[in-house]
Amino acid sequence: MRTIREVKPETELYAPRLAEVVKIDELTPNEKVFEFRFKDGKELGHRPGQFVEVSIMGTGESPISVSSSPTKDGTFQLAVRNVGNVTNTLHALERGAMVGIRGPFGNGFPLEALDGRDVLLIAGGIGLFPLRSLVQYILDRRSSFGKVILLFGARSPAERLFLDELDLWSRSPEIEFQETVDKGDESWKGNVGVITTLIPKVDIDPGKTMAVVVGPPIMYRFVIGELKKKGLADENIILSLERRMKCGVGKCGHCQINGVYVCQEGPVFTLAQLRNLREAV
Ligand SMILES: Cc1cc2nc3c(=O)[nH]c(=O)nc-3n(C[C@H](O)[C@H](O)[C@H](O)COP(=O)(O)OP(=O)(O)OC[C@H]3O[C@@H](n4cnc5c(N)ncnc54)[C@H](O)[C@@H]3O)c2cc1C
Ligand code: FES
Repeated sequence: MRTIREVKPETELYAPRLAEVVKIDELTPNEKVFEFRFKDGKELGHRPGQFVEVSIMGTGESPISVSSSPTKDGTFQLAVRNVGNVTNTLHALERGAMVGIRGPFGNGFPLEALDGRDVLLIAGGIGLFPLRSLVQYILDRRSSFGKVILLFGARSPAERLFLDELDLWSRSPEIEFQETVDKGDESWKGNVGVITTLIPKVDIDPGKTMAVVVGPPIMYRFVIGELKKKGLADENIILSLERRMKCGVGKCGHCQINGVYVCQEGPVFTLAQLRNLREAV
């Protein structure tokens, strides 16, 4: 498997590049999407599913997935849930603020394996942050893929993310989009139930379909159960793991599972690879 050490000189692994916040949108009271442009004018050069380490001087550094597609020129977006020190300071930033960015790191989604196939994308909660990058990428290269289905589940209507894009996808003939919320309210007219309830409703050809699943760990076991009922092979089920990370570049060992560095060889794995790692999913 390709490692970051092979493609980047060591100094670049540790030295953050300065990036300016050029746009901020509030997604929910606890989640914001930030658009950045590098001070040196260069591109991030990521693939969907990769992450960056964002540093704030005097506060710290956190791994955050790139939420925009590399098909978008000049800027990149990171969607961030406010949970603690770094993310709280990020949320307090205004347009024009500078942060440090290392990366992109990790393997990203296997675009070559998805090429020409039907694709079933399943996002639970903020799993949509990294998966959105892949959705945008696929829609920008639509003719390279077969049937594309996106399923999204949020805990409540108030926790739905990227409302404009959800609306766009629900009306687009390019993608079959279905969503659900765990618990509805008076205003919600859509599906109610956990995300696994959507899987039996979609029509897929298991011989042609690759499934890409991103969400909280608890979701994986149940989603995998439903995908197996649909006849998908372990090699055709792709999952992104969110492990505790520090360096992001295979040096500190924080992210290891049985000798495999998730920050480098992951965070994206097939279910077959995870079973070999004896990783419980
Ligand atoms: C590969 C990868 C991609 C990620 N992508 C995103 C993203 O796109 N958007 C986003 O909002 N978050 C993402 N995260 C999670 C994000 O890195 C953590 O929420 C963040 O580091 C917390 O830092 P903090 O200083 O704000 O919180 P801290 O003050 O360090 O901690 C606050 C709370 O968050 C918990 N926490 C800290 N780090 C993690 C972690 N890695 N995973 C789960 N819980 C954690 C702590 O246990 C504590 O309860 C990603 C994590 C990884 C490993
Ligand atoms: S985060 Fe340091 S080795 Fe993976």
